[in-house]
Amino acid sequence: MSNYHIKHLEEYYQVYRKSIREPENFWEEIAEEHFIWRKKWDKVLEWDFSKPEIKWFQGAKLNITENCIDRHLATRGDKTAILFEPNNPNEKAEHISYKKLYERVNQFANVLKENGIQKGDRVCIYVPMIPELAIATLACARIGAIHSVVFAGFSSTALSTRINDSDCKMVITADGSFRGNKTIDLKGIVDDALESCSCVETVLVAKRINSDINMKEGRDKWLQPLLDSASKQCKATVMDAEDPLFILYTSGSTGKPKGMVHTTAGYMVYTAYTFKNAFQYKENDVYWCTADIGWITGHSYIVYGPLANGATTVLFEGAPSYPDFGRFWNIVEKHKVNQFYTAPTAIRALAKHGTELVDKYDLSSLKVLGSVGEPINEEAWHWYNDIVGKGKSPIIDSWWQTETGGIMITPIPYVTPTKPTYATLPFIGIQPALMDETGNELKGNQVEGRLCIKYPWPSIARTIWGNHQRYKETYFSAFENKYFTGDGALRDEVGYYRITGRVDDVIIVSGHNLGTAPIEDAINEHPAVAESAIVGFPHDVKGSALYGYITLKETGESRNHDNLKKEVNQLISDRIGPIAKLDKIQFTEGLPKTRSGKIMRRILRKIASNDLNNLGDVSTLLNPEIVENIIKNKL
Ligand code: PRX
Repeated sequence: MSNYHIKHLEEYYQVYRKSIREPENFWEEIAEEHFIWRKKWDKVLEWDFSKPEIKWFQGAKLNITENCIDRHLATRGDKTAILFEPNNPNEKAEHISYKKLYERVNQFANVLKENGIQKGDRVCIYVPMIPELAIATLACARIGAIHSVVFAGFSSTALSTRINDSDCKMVITADGSFRGNKTIDLKGIVDDALESCSCVETVLVAKRINSDINMKEGRDKWLQPLLDSASKQCKATVMDAEDPLFILYTSGSTGKPKGMVHTTAGYMVYTAYTFKNAFQYKENDVYWCTADIGWITGHSYIVYGPLANGATTVLFEGAPSYPDFGRFWNIVEKHKVNQFYTAPTAIRALAKHGTELVDKYDLSSLKVLGSVGEPINEEAWHWYNDIVGKGKSPIIDSWWQTETGGIMITPIPYVTPTKPTYATLPFIGIQPALMDETGNELKGNQVEGRLCIKYPWPSIARTIWGNHQRYKETYFSAFENKYFTGDGALRDEVGYYRITGRVDDVIIVSGHNLGTAPIEDAINEHPAVAESAIVGFPHDVKGSALYGYITLKETGESRNHDNLKKEVNQLISDRIGPIAKLDKIQFTEGLPKTRSGKIMRRILRKIASNDLNNLGDVSTLLNPEIVENIIKNKL
């Protein structure tokens, strides 16, 4: 079989070169040999980054769930597909076999149909990390409905913005969710959100915490009785290769969240292929990604990538700190996890609690450790490598984005020698370029610039829902004929890449992308606030935390600043979610501005990071005196 499973470095280089020299032949071979199609494609690739338009496997017909479920039934029917580990360690883990998954997805798909959902309709899924989340997602794909999963930690405002943006006809949710020893009233949040969403006709509610909730007559339905009476057979809807599979929202530096649209065939091929190689998945391995399915990591590497390979994928409901900070390692021991994929923020949080809670458990099953979501700092890398991996499980520091659909730059474990803080080499088929600010590509090694990709790969997002122009401007306008990632990177002397961080106004807090603009908008809603600016500053657990500079209106009344801080954070929590709360709030008389009135975030960022020797020339500012003042009062 061709090139599907790379086993040594020489092979990597050989396959990589082939994938670059003959990309169409390369991907055609992968698609042909490892997936089932109702009809093969007429053309492998058509693309034009100037429009931008990207089409993979045009003319092909398929259903992704037949690839993720049906085709495994003959050989893996009784194998565990999803291994559900509940929040409460005393609640029994649930092994959902491929056969059972097939039945449950079909039942769910029939319920969707019976409730008026058809191919192309948008369905919002706001469900905690319980099996219904993965099953609802696959059920949509079964009938060609476009799922829009919204992370169940988002606020009602964030939820309603996303529901309205893509006109969702249905919301799937749960009565509530468990998080450690707390419960969250999810249905209440949905009710609030739906006050401002006229597009939603039906709400299906899964029972999880058995809370007493309101059910709106004619709109809300309990899910379980509907599932119980639904047939376990549901014919998969035949989809075109380029039919949308899902929408997933990600923050931009300005404006409302961007609904990235991923389509069917290319996404399937690329997530499956990357999963197999980046994790070196072997038939009887147990794989666990700790992300939430509400993020792209969960879509691609809890649901689609693993299931397309017939893997066993762990779905964990709880938190790394419950009942104590040893929970992750407890689960690794309990389920003999072989590949473990998490975020640097989790690693840093766990490292703070020493090695005792790690050493308590038998982690000898581990073969591969993954990191994703933000740069992993050297200290965290070594802790992960030495304490968790005992120096024998390679770390794959995998760089990618919601927009890229799958892993783009990563070591292949046991193939690529790792180097702390380096994502190392481009994945097969990926052609990175580093650009200087004037738009020239920096050739050769030992260069640093803006990270672009020169050639399409199968799982690139095709558009922003309802706003193709914004897609073009955000990703294809900064550098001609290239996809611009928004990240900076350097290439070292052997060609390894290190991602240096965002070069725009997106801040990554605990692995979550946050745009500054929506947070500032939320703060500015406070009646006492005149203006605000948010920047990131280094934080030992979160990677970056948020520092807010706020100017107040001159109302004459003196306000209690501590109360104001609480009110501001409450507003942010209500509008966006607790994730976006500010760690530090400094009230200031003014914000440094250019003569054209633009807030100089660069200076504020340096002050917040205590980098006071490098402020640059402030004399050209409209109000240079304010800088001294802000420094004097900095927190
Ligand atoms: O800045 C990069 C950072 O996360 C951004 C993408 O965020 P999101 O779309 O939420 O997807 C996260 C999970 C795929 C990137 O633009 N990022 C992601 N992985 C890494 C990273 N930064 C450094 N190293 C990584 N391994």
